[in-house]
Amino acid sequence: MSGRFPDKFLWGTATAAHQVEGGNTASDLWLMEMAPDSPFAEPSGDACDQYHRYRDDIALLAGLGFKAYRFSIEWARIEPEEGFFSKAALDHYRRIAAACLEANVMPIVTFHHFTNPLWLTKDGGWENAKSIDRFARFCERAGAALADLIAIACTINEANIPMLVTLQREAQAGRPYARPRAFGALAQRCGGTVERFAPYLHCDGRLASPNLIAAHRKSYDVLKGLGGDFPVGVTLALQEFKATPGGEAVRDMAYQLINGQFLEACKGDDFVGVQTYTTIEFGPEGVLPPKGETTQMGYAFAPEALEATIRDAAEVARAPILVTENGIGTQDDARRVEFTRRALEGVLRCLADGIDVRGYVHWSLLDNFEWLEGYRPKFGLVEVDRATQARRPKPSAYWLGRIAKANALS
Ligand code: BGC
Repeated sequence: MSGRFPDKFLWGTATAAHQVEGGNTASDLWLMEMAPDSPFAEPSGDACDQYHRYRDDIALLAGLGFKAYRFSIEWARIEPEEGFFSKAALDHYRRIAAACLEANVMPIVTFHHFTNPLWLTKDGGWENAKSIDRFARFCERAGAALADLIAIACTINEANIPMLVTLQREAQAGRPYARPRAFGALAQRCGGTVERFAPYLHCDGRLASPNLIAAHRKSYDVLKGLGGDFPVGVTLALQEFKATPGGEAVRDMAYQLINGQFLEACKGDDFVGVQTYTTIEFGPEGVLPPKGETTQMGYAFAPEALEATIRDAAEVARAPILVTENGIGTQDDARRVEFTRRALEGVLRCLADGIDVRGYVHWSLLDNFEWLEGYRPKFGLVEVDRATQARRPKPSAYWLGRIAKANALS
């Protein structure tokens, strides 16, 4: 299938601060990654050293043909102690956004992408209702410092993922959420207690979700009130949920908790950030193992999932759609091209049906730190040599860059 995308359709690539910058020492994950009993496969360490190499990375993506760069600003660097806002850190992110604009690339700025400042995690993280005002205050300070440079703002990356991982872990363990026992030692290392030690991807999603929704709503208003005219939205981890006969009720329950309540909370936003990687199938007993080809993450190879999640998000949230992440963890770059081509065909079908899809941002620009999995999964269009930090675009980078330049899939 071939076709043109609308004029002004945005083509971009994405990264997140902790996954590429390196040396994020005031974050909760730094402590967790460096602990002797760490749940992480390896520490993020220097990551891709983008803290120093951002100019080269922006030049690289612009040269490939992309017109947008989605990156996150790191709360732990900007507010390393509660109430202290680092002007130096804010200036750093101003330089990144300015470098984008100089390269004719739109800066899509995400205000929270998984990592918390350690002080927040130690004090209940997002389980604590104080997170609503704490995050809004951060958005006010950081947003004010960057407002004249932001093209698009995303408040929280995958605000629904604590709920998703909580349900996954509950299903695996066969019991309700419990704080991992190993967190006792982690909490102790930073002078906290296990009850309150709540990192984003390991907190109780049932407690955190109402706070995340409220924090998004409040920070949306804060960012809109700064006087800039940039669109603001939240991004959501939206996998396509399917059911085999008899699995419909379980699927629908999971859908409402993980996707539905969040999409409903986005009504009236400037856009919804759709982030899709796979399809999840439910049987009467819960999630079924993936059938057929799987990715490095163990997900079903399901490029058509994006079309399904775009359609659903547009229908429920009644807002324009921006694909803020879509991609595949694979060593086989030809599979990345196949995955992305089929995903884009789905985008074209959505557009043909009149759905307002504003752009496609691929995850990721670089092979980077894939959270608990460390550096093993390869999501990048660009390979990064871990010893030298040299960047080498893969064939998929040139291929997607050509599509971006042509604004058409041929
Ligand atoms: C996250 C990224 C992550 C990607 C691939 C998304 O859930 O926003 O940070 O690297 O998926 O797993």
